[in-house]
Amino acid sequence: MKIIVIGGTGLIGSKLVEKLRKDGHEPLAASLDTGVNTLTGEGLAEALEGAQVVVDVANAPAWDDAAVLHFFETSSRNLLAAETAAGVGHHVALSVVGTDRLPESGYFRAKAAQEDLVKAGPIPYTIVRATQFFEFIGRIADSSTDGNTVRLSPALVQPEAADDLAGALADVAVGAPLNDTVELAGPEAFRLDELARRVLSASNDPRQVTADVHARYFGAELDDRSLTPRDDARIAPTRFEDWLSQSARYS
Ligand SMILES: NC(=O)c1ccc[n+]([C@@H]2O[C@H](COP(=O)([O-])OP(=O)(O)OC[C@H]3O[C@@H](n4cnc5c(N)ncnc54)[C@H](OP(=O)(O)O)[C@@H]3O)[C@@H](O)[C@H]2O)c1
Repeated sequence: MKIIVIGGTGLIGSKLVEKLRKDGHEPLAASLDTGVNTLTGEGLAEALEGAQVVVDVANAPAWDDAAVLHFFETSSRNLLAAETAAGVGHHVALSVVGTDRLPESGYFRAKAAQEDLVKAGPIPYTIVRATQFFEFIGRIADSSTDGNTVRLSPALVQPEAADDLAGALADVAVGAPLNDTVELAGPEAFRLDELARRVLSASNDPRQVTADVHARYFGAELDDRSLTPRDDARIAPTRFEDWLSQSARYS
């Protein structure tokens, strides 16, 4: 099956391409690096020729409110139009658990706009909402750092390994379109500040993590329901401590 992975050179995209190839499919990584620009449409028609499925795991290069909204809206419109012309039968979009609950955040408003376009669009679809990747916790800490202090909400999160998400996306991509949204989360819940503390301490990072219920997460205050999954979420297998010891071994 020819499957186009938009953002196929990124963190999730490269793992997904590798998994699909291992499973015997024909994945094509489409991104700026491979001559495909979803914002301008450049290279899209050529990349989509003969494709049955498109998985969109691209991410915006800049996350200020206007730029990120422009990225997800324009990219989604261009993609859906190119998929219609190419006769693609399944559009899979990667979104974030909590996208419908965090309108204070420009990033989450942009993901909601992406989801709305996919749902209203002409291509049968599946939206996969994932929780935070373990690999992303460091970037969350960076975005909340002031000097030597990382100020983070103690809200509950249920993070997952990027490898598990790539595996789940590969299964969804080769399955029938659900015309629905599914959620994927990790096997354990943590307080966000505590999780960041553990990630920083594992890499001997000297920054101090402080819990602050008013600390904003990409623009939004959080509570224990903001980023946690629905009861029917699929649960990824890898536990945080196992991931941490594996990543320490390879870093
Ligand atoms: N971070 C989390 O914890 C989390 C949780 C749930 C869901 N998600 C979602 O996961 C998705 C992927 O995240 P990621 O961290 O894997 O992203 P990433 O590593 O930053 O990769 C982004 C990809 O998008 C591509 N890209 C950027 N602009 C493009 C354009 N104009 N045209 C074509 N391709 C373009 C990049 O291509 P180049 O490399 O060629 O520039 C790269 O392949 C995002 O949609 C995000 O919302 C993230």
